Amino acid sequence: MKILITGSAGFIGFSLADTLLKKGHKILGYDELNKYYDINLKLLRNKILKKNKNYTFVKGKLEDHNTLNKFALKFKPNIIIHLAAQAGVRYSLKVPKKYISSNVLGTFNIIEIAHKLKVKHLLIASSSSVYGSNKIKNFREIDKADSQLSIYASTKKATESIAHSYSSLWHIPITMMRFFTVYGPWGRPDMAYFKFTKSILNKKKIDVFNKGNMYRDFTYISDVVRAIELIMNKIPKLNSIKKYKNDSLSKVAPYRILNIGNQNKVYLKNFINELEKNLGIKPKINFMPMQKGDVKETLSNTNLLLKLTGFKPKINYKEGIRKFTNWYLSFEKIK
Ligand SMILES: NC(=O)c1ccc[n+]([C@@H]2O[C@H](COP(=O)([O-])OP(=O)(O)OC[C@H]3O[C@@H](n4cnc5c(N)ncnc54)[C@H](O)[C@@H]3O)[C@@H](O)[C@H]2O)c1
Repeated sequence: MKILITGSAGFIGFSLADTLLKKGHKILGYDELNKYYDINLKLLRNKILKKNKNYTFVKGKLEDHNTLNKFALKFKPNIIIHLAAQAGVRYSLKVPKKYISSNVLGTFNIIEIAHKLKVKHLLIASSSSVYGSNKIKNFREIDKADSQLSIYASTKKATESIAHSYSSLWHIPITMMRFFTVYGPWGRPDMAYFKFTKSILNKKKIDVFNKGNMYRDFTYISDVVRAIELIMNKIPKLNSIKKYKNDSLSKVAPYRILNIGNQNKVYLKNFINELEKNLGIKPKINFMPMQKGDVKETLSNTNLLLKLTGFKPKINYKEGIRKFTNWYLSFEKIK
């Protein structure tokens, strides 16, 4: 299959492209290679992908409709997996405009191309942050997601809305994927678990928000990649009868929202204890108040994903942290 992956030099995009290339798919990767975090990590990921002859890379911005159009039209993907975005809650307080530009305009451009190319399926990354201040602790896709707390979350919610309207107008099959705290090897240096690891090893203090009283549904990268692969083949159909209770399938569009999570919340302090065990160093902790725009708890309900695809997460957080710290220590030596 021919697949266009945006954000292919990013954490999830790279991990997905790497797996799909090994399975013989042809991939067009598109990424602006921005400097939001260590560019070398992105270049290293890209270097690995480029070793495969079935990988073509184009450096470009989502906002640059002409470049995107030119390469996508030439490549003619059957499927588009749109992962490029400006991520991060905290950074969205500093440069909100970048989020509007990359996430809203950028996603709009991708949807237009999917329309033009009549792709079989467009998968778009959304986020658990769209559930915002919703107090339900086990988020289902059909639960209210109308109270976002950061511009990052708002732009993700906006893309869900734009995607739904385009899907209904032009019958583009679209699945929105709401990811829950993805972590693992080749991960993002701006995320807490990565920063903690780096600081603990450098004997520096770690900033722990809300005094560590936070819960996250940590989802290991290989589980996320497997979920995306399964979702690729579950193309939402217009007017199909809902087989499953609580299906988020739209009544007027071939459009569905799916949570991708571990369906298990981990107390942040336990996560840090596990890092300590694996690194063999006691962390020095700087307890901080709650961060503006952040949420105290996330927990996915992934029953719909299970019923549709049979997906069950395989890696629990203890195993995930072990794999991550092993990778981190070896990566420190090669980078
Ligand atoms: N990692 C998580 O825990 C998580 C959780 C929820 C949602 N998500 C979403 O999943 C997707 C992938 O996340 P990730 O963790 O791999 O992030 P990442 O930052 O590692 O990757 C995103 C990539 O997109 C590229 N990019 C950003 N803006 C661009 C633009 N305007 N034009 C072209 N390229 C651009 C960046 O250079 C980067 O390589 C994102 O949409 C993110 O919002 C991630």
